[in-house]
Amino acid sequence: MVIVNASRTAGMRLSGIILTLIVPIILLGGILANTLRHEIALTQKEILGLQLVDIVTPILIEKASGKPGERTAEQRLKLAVGLAEKIGISEEYSELIGLFESKLTRPDKLVEETAHLLHAVGSNSNLILDPVAESFFLALTNIMNLPDLVSHLHAFQFELDGAIATRGIDSAELKRILLMLGELSAAIERSSDSINHAREESADPGRYENALAVIRGIEKEISVTRDVMSTVHPGAETLTLTMLSKQTIDPSGKYLMAGEVWKQTSNRLRDILTTRKADMWLELLTIVGLGMLAMLLAGAAAVWLFRSTLRRLDLVEVEIQRADDARGEAEAMHDKIAVINNDISALNKELANKVLHLKEAQEELVQKGRLEQLGHLTATIAHEIRNPLGSVRTSAFLLDRKLRGKGLDVEAQLIRINRGVTRCDNIINQLLDYSRTKQPAFRPEILDEWLARIVAEEAARLPVAVSIKCSLGLGDRQIPFDPSRLQRVIVNLLDNASEALVGAGDDPGKFSSQRPCIEIETKVIGSNATISVTDNGPGISPSNLAKVRQPLFTTKSFGTGLGVPAIEKILEQHGGSLEISSVEGRGATFCAYLPLQPPVRANEAA
Ligand SMILES: Nc1ncnc2c1ncn2[C@@H]1O[C@H](COP(=O)(O)OP(=O)(O)OP(=O)(O)O)[C@@H](O)[C@H]1O
Ligand SMILES: [Mg+2]
Repeated sequence: MVIVNASRTAGMRLSGIILTLIVPIILLGGILANTLRHEIALTQKEILGLQLVDIVTPILIEKASGKPGERTAEQRLKLAVGLAEKIGISEEYSELIGLFESKLTRPDKLVEETAHLLHAVGSNSNLILDPVAESFFLALTNIMNLPDLVSHLHAFQFELDGAIATRGIDSAELKRILLMLGELSAAIERSSDSINHAREESADPGRYENALAVIRGIEKEISVTRDVMSTVHPGAETLTLTMLSKQTIDPSGKYLMAGEVWKQTSNRLRDILTTRKADMWLELLTIVGLGMLAMLLAGAAAVWLFRSTLRRLDLVEVEIQRADDARGEAEAMHDKIAVINNDISALNKELANKVLHLKEAQEELVQKGRLEQLGHLTATIAHEIRNPLGSVRTSAFLLDRKLRGKGLDVEAQLIRINRGVTRCDNIINQLLDYSRTKQPAFRPEILDEWLARIVAEEAARLPVAVSIKCSLGLGDRQIPFDPSRLQRVIVNLLDNASEALVGAGDDPGKFSSQRPCIEIETKVIGSNATISVTDNGPGISPSNLAKVRQPLFTTKSFGTGLGVPAIEKILEQHGGSLEISSVEGRGATFCAYLPLQPPVRANEAA
């Protein structure tokens, strides 16, 4: 149980470690990857946007300022289509290009659309292009917006005033310059009105051309002024004036201005890109740094958790070792207990045997006591009955002699009286045989000789139908036995065999065998002489075979059931035994064993 719990705890701790370490790492990694992906996508869009602006802006500026379109410019615009698609502003771009490809009658519209394009690029790519778009828009408007130019000229005039004052120019000449500049301003104002008018009417290209012609007229005036100014005051102001005059009047000035605007825009875009790149690097480094920090923390947590788990596993190992040791001890103990158990069960068996022997001895004693009592009783009864029985027999004999031949017809009654007397005599003999406890009186006899004589006597008594065969194999061997007692054995065996074969008489209807025959055999087996009596009668059933030795067991209507027990008892008193075998339907064999030497106890008793 301890092991199971420990492994379960270790498993739970491991899953805890996995949850603690891997889940935050995965989450953090996911967030970092997503941020990086987003930033990279934005940066890609920014770069694409800048490329687009870089390509489109100068062309648009050139176009807006009236420069005739170039083939290369158109090709570049087409190239920019792909870029616009990638940024996701195809719609705005196609509107602008549509405007560009149509005959340009509203340059301001083109400018406006360009500014919108810049705004769209900005909002799609996360670039802050609105200020750039604003300045671009303003700058381009300036190209067209002459009133602003005029105000620039006024400012210049004021500046020039100041310059003249500080440098001490001759007053007559100064007046002339100022006058000229005043005229210039007025002329430009006039031109301004004309051009404004032309712009309002810009749907008509012819009228716009007229306006340009007016501007060219003004240009001449400005050029005269410039010449004068260069003789009077060469330097930066002159250059500025040239610039301004070019911006105002000369279309090539417009190109110059457009170039400046484009350059500014481009620089601004590059600034933005540089800042963005720096920001990106910073973000990247921050993310990588945070990631490394998280990994470091996760690694440290993992080491700590794994070490504590390993320590617990070590403890579990120690517990397992202890459990193993305890089990070893228990096994050794078990072996010892098994040995003790075996000893105890052996002792128990011995005790049981001894108890059994004791019981048997006790029973034997009780039996002996009873038999002795029975013996006394039987001897008394036999003695008391035999005398009157003798009188009855003698009286019956005398009656038979007196009444024979007198025609009284009492023979049958006399025969019945004789049979009854014989039967009573038999019963008394059986009882005496069985209950006699007195030790046999051993006397060495040539057994075969003795047996032949006894059998011959008994055969005369048995029914004529029964034939007897003797096969005696002991020769002259002398065996110690009590002849009167052993005779009872032989008589009983022959009676039983005869009764089994022909019943009580010679009535063939009651024969169990067609040729009733008894075979008597003697021989030596080991230290015993054996006398076996075999008949070819009905035999004994296995269930009866188990009971024939019991006193009072009989299957006969006239039997006492004491014959076989008496035989066995007499043989035991001789130190021998009785063996009974039978095949049902084929006959039975009763074999008496008599020791060749008299038993010690019997000898002593003798
Ligand atoms: N040779 C035999 N063949 C078949 N059965 C036998 C034989 N000898 C004995 N038995 C059986 O054994 C029983 C017991 O025999 P046992 O001699 O003790 O008494 P019994 O012959 O019945 O009476 P009794 O006291 O007159 O001898 C018999 O009743 C009989 O059934
Ligand atoms: Mg009998």
